[in-house]
Amino acid sequence: MEEPCDTRLAAGHDLDAILDLQERNLPTSGGTLSARLSREWFETALAAMPVIATTRAGRLVGYLASAPVAAFAEVAVVQAMLEAYRGASDAYVYGPICVDEIERGRGIAISMFALLKVRLPGREGILFIRCDNTASLRAHARMGIHEVAKFDHNDVQYVVLSYVG
Ligand SMILES: CC(C)(COP(=O)(O)OP(=O)(O)OC[C@H]1O[C@@H](n2cnc3c(N)ncnc32)[C@H](O)[C@@H]1OP(=O)(O)O)[C@@H](O)C(=O)NCCC(=O)NCCS
Repeated sequence: MEEPCDTRLAAGHDLDAILDLQERNLPTSGGTLSARLSREWFETALAAMPVIATTRAGRLVGYLASAPVAAFAEVAVVQAMLEAYRGASDAYVYGPICVDEIERGRGIAISMFALLKVRLPGREGILFIRCDNTASLRAHARMGIHEVAKFDHNDVQYVVLSYVG
């Protein structure tokens, strides 16, 4: 029988697997993640805010980061989002979120979001999704996250979404 998933807070020892999953889901590998974030970026995020990891049989199958707005000063697409919608003064950025291709459609993203909200009650989270990323738009609509703005960046259209945990 298949082992169940374990969704928990990520730690430093998850970083190699997070970076590997990120790499496999960047546009350079045919994936839909919008930006390559460095090991240093994830280390800073881990120290500042919850990063969620899901493993199955000890193997990382998903991650969901959260980070202060200031952590994205060097990430142009996030700056474009913030120009379109900034949220509350204590709002944080939700994402990136990524689930291993062979594990998609099984509720892992929803479980990671549920744990993130438990860790950050009452705070606004903001995120962006490419308008052509149907799976992500559907998954986040299913989570009850709603659209608050739209923006263009490098000729790509995005929607901005927001929720309160
Ligand atoms: C977006 C992503 C994180 C969703 O993760 P997931 O674990 O597959 O999502 P879930 O199984 O929790 O899906 C929840 C809902 O989303 C919808 N959904 C998920 N994948 C879908 C797909 N490929 N097509 C249509 N709907 C989809 C379903 O409605 C599902 O709910 P339901 O099964 O009860 O109907 C995943 O597809 C992914 O990692 N994509 C690659 C990276 C990426 O694009 N990240 C997001 C950038 S904004």
